[in-house]
Parts: sequence; structure tokens; C-alpha cells
Amino acid sequence: MGNDMVRIAVFVSGGGSNLQSLIDAFRSGLIKGGIIALVFSNKENAYGLERAKAAGIKTLHCSPKNYPGREGFDLAVAEAMNTEMIDLICLAGYMRVLSKDFIDAFKGKIINIHPALLPDFGGEGMYGIHVHEAVLKGGVKETGCTVHFVDYGTDTGPVILQRRVPVMENDTPETLQKRVLIEEHLAYPEAVRLYCEGKIKTEGRKVTIL
Ligand code: GRF
Repeated sequence: MGNDMVRIAVFVSGGGSNLQSLIDAFRSGLIKGGIIALVFSNKENAYGLERAKAAGIKTLHCSPKNYPGREGFDLAVAEAMNTEMIDLICLAGYMRVLSKDFIDAFKGKIINIHPALLPDFGGEGMYGIHVHEAVLKGGVKETGCTVHFVDYGTDTGPVILQRRVPVMENDTPETLQKRVLIEEHLAYPEAVRLYCEGKIKTEGRKVTIL
């Protein structure tokens, strides 16, 4: 259990505050038994790449424009993962749908964080501020974030853990986003810690924390 170092790749397309929370958790010793071996982005100017460089982590950028289609691009990315001997892929604001082949190649080894309590407020179009707009429109009293395994659907994979926050009457999408993000920065490191310690068991859709 957790004998070997889990080699992690974090995929980012934007700011990478969740990446930062992982970097910080490794630095502080909260997560043991793993290492962020690579930060990958489809966007050359993703600030997440700068965060990685500042932390001395290897970075890789591939532009989808240089590949004939999703499959070709994902194949190149998969090859890069194999070269780096990656055991776990953490999507952290990665704004691309993964191909079926890619998901098959890393079955049970791709996790994502979503800024709502899945299965609510997930799926196509549910990203960024749109999620929080939908939560407010939906009139729910609670929202939060979900760390989940990635399957073929959008935001449909088995849930690993969730953290909750209240929705306040005077919330705007922006205030809600901020409150949720604070929880994201706790949830993702916690999920990665559990993964690195070999404490996550999956049977079908059911994830058990050992
Ligand atoms: C987060 O809200 C995350 O839940 C979602 O994309 C956002 C990424 O933010 N998947 P950041 O780039 O980590 O700051």
C-alpha cells in the first residue's frame, strides 16, 4: 500500500489555483508518497505553467492546433504521460474533453475537481462562473465541490469526496465561486493524499475511503 511514489501529472488550462493547492500540500508534507512529476497544458500562456516553473516542476505544453484531431492530440499527450511514467492524472481546470482512448489508457487514474455537488450542476456548459450562476438560479441552499474519477461522460464519474458550503441570500455568482474555491483547495489535496496512500477503493460507481 502506497510503497512506490505515485507520479502525478496535473493538467491545467488556466490560472491553476488548484494546482497551487497541490504544490503547497506536497511542500508542507500533507501529501506523502507522491510527486508532481509534470504539469501539462494545452494553453501556452496558462498561468498554471508559471506556477509549476516557480515550484521547479517540469512543464509541457502541446497545442491542439498542431494535431489533426482530438485523437491525435490525446495520443501525443498519452505518450508524454508514458514517457514520464505517470500513475495519476489530476485535471485542474483542464478545459478539454478527453477522448475515449485516452480515458481507456488511464482507466481509474484520472481525477477531476468540479465546483458543485455532482451529480447536480455538472455536464456540458457547466464550467467556471456558469456553474455558480446555475446554482443561484436553481435556488438550492447548499453547494460545494466534488473530486471524482473521470469516465466517458462530462462530470459523471464516481465521486471520491465532496465538500459543502452554504448558499447565502445575497450571494452573487462571484461570491459563491470564491467560497467554493476555498473548499476546492482543501478537497483536492485531501483526495490526492488518499490516492497516494492507497486508501481509495472503487467498486463500480462506489468509492470507499479505507
Ligand atoms: C475550478 O473551479 C475547478 O473546480 C474547475 O476549474 C476551476 C479551475 O480553477 N474544474 P483553477 O485554474 O484551479 O484556479
